[in-house]
Amino acid sequence: MRKVITYGTFDLLHYGHILLLKRAKSLGDHLTVGLSTDSFNELKGKKSFLSFEQRKNLLESIKYIDRIIPEENWEQKSMDIVKYGIDVFVIGDDWKGKFDNLNCEVVYFPRAPDISSSQIKELMGNF
Ligand code: CTP
Repeated sequence: MRKVITYGTFDLLHYGHILLLKRAKSLGDHLTVGLSTDSFNELKGKKSFLSFEQRKNLLESIKYIDRIIPEENWEQKSMDIVKYGIDVFVIGDDWKGKFDNLNCEVVYFPRAPDISSSQIKELMGNF
């Protein structure tokens, strides 16, 4: 079984996220999502509209996703790859080149144009 992993915050789930998840799953048979916790987001200087539990609930309803794990720090990726027997790491090309040293195949997908969580939050008046 070919196992794929991706990471992110997935706040205010949108079309770009779904496209990325669909493409990620198409590279294998099993998709794990490392979902950034609220405290990790704080560390990254990011504030999500939806809480970790709310974001997790939304992702649980997506057919492409087989497992959700919390992403709690920058260092855990290489450990997760070993722990879960991951073959492919996938992320959007806003991260191009940043994860080339991971211990599995690394794929950067082009981001869906003209949509992002930040943009939606801006339209919401930054809540
Ligand atoms: N993503 C994508 N296309 C978009 C937006 C996001 O492919 N238009 C991908 C990112 O590259 C990443 C994943 O979706 O692999 C999760 O990204 P995340 O940072 O949670 O979403 P963004 O909408 O980029 O959020 P922000 O605006 O806060 O950066």
